[in-house]
Amino acid sequence: MSKISLIGAGQIGGTLAHLIGIKELVNEVVLFDVASGIAKGKALDIAQSSSVDGFNVKFSGTDDYKDIKGSDVIIITAGVPRKPGMTRMDLLKINAGVVKDVVGNIKKFADDAMIIPVTNPLDPMAQIAYKTSGFDRSRVFGMGGMLDLSRFKQFIHEATGYSRESTKALVIGEHGENMLPLTRFATVSGIPLPTLLPKEKLDEIFTATKGVAAEVIKLKGATVHAPGNAISAMIESVVQDKKQVIPVSTNLDGEYGQKDVSIGVPAVVGKNGVEKILE
Ligand code: APR
Repeated sequence: MSKISLIGAGQIGGTLAHLIGIKELVNEVVLFDVASGIAKGKALDIAQSSSVDGFNVKFSGTDDYKDIKGSDVIIITAGVPRKPGMTRMDLLKINAGVVKDVVGNIKKFADDAMIIPVTNPLDPMAQIAYKTSGFDRSRVFGMGGMLDLSRFKQFIHEATGYSRESTKALVIGEHGENMLPLTRFATVSGIPLPTLLPKEKLDEIFTATKGVAAEVIKLKGATVHAPGNAISAMIESVVQDKKQVIPVSTNLDGEYGQKDVSIGVPAVVGKNGVEKILE
């Protein structure tokens, strides 16, 4: 795969573009934003960093949708982010309009692409993107669970003191206040977490995972680095066909007894997008 377009060149879009470069995930990154100066400026800024590390990725910024032509994957972060005190649902109305507009243009200019919605509230936006695109559901999957998982694993690491790589875990459900960090199914190198930590500590980790985004927003206005990194991990599984099992917000068609809803479930993510939903 060779080209990724980022619709929304704001804080997450910028961080993500840089990470795609550093990880050399593709040959070309297009940053699109209605604020064209931001897109062009960030593309220039990131491109200036590439010669020091020697990464070979072409960056460009635009406000013209025709430049997304030929994209293999498109990430949507366009919209309005959460302000202190706002829930993701507060953003629903504004961002639904933005996502519909963006997906309409993706259909027009890059109808072979995979779409990874990130704009909040994530699960409704993933559903809107799926419905508006008319694409096969395997090609539209939102990033939320991967971020919640990275937070969950960090808290497990902090509680156990053991290596992060040894931790395997899962967060399913809504990317929001009702997410489910599955403490019962988490393991450290195959050892069930409930045998390593007392119940009170597990409850603490569960609550901290759900609340940490709001805490970061309160402290500095937005969550940026962890979401950018989580998206890059999903892209990596796609472009390298890793077939990682990742929680993604995907349309359910009978799985988990649900239909016509996009919500976070574990899925095999590879070169064809969501290749299988695991129940
Ligand atoms: N088309 C394209 N870009 C748009 C549009 C639109 N219709 N509307 C807004 N944008 C752009 C803004 O100009 C801005 O640069 O989207 C960008 C959003 O960037 P930020 O405001 O910095 O938000 P960010 O922190 O990157 O978060 C983006 O991801 O996690 C979610 O809740 C978060 O919904 C938010 C999204």
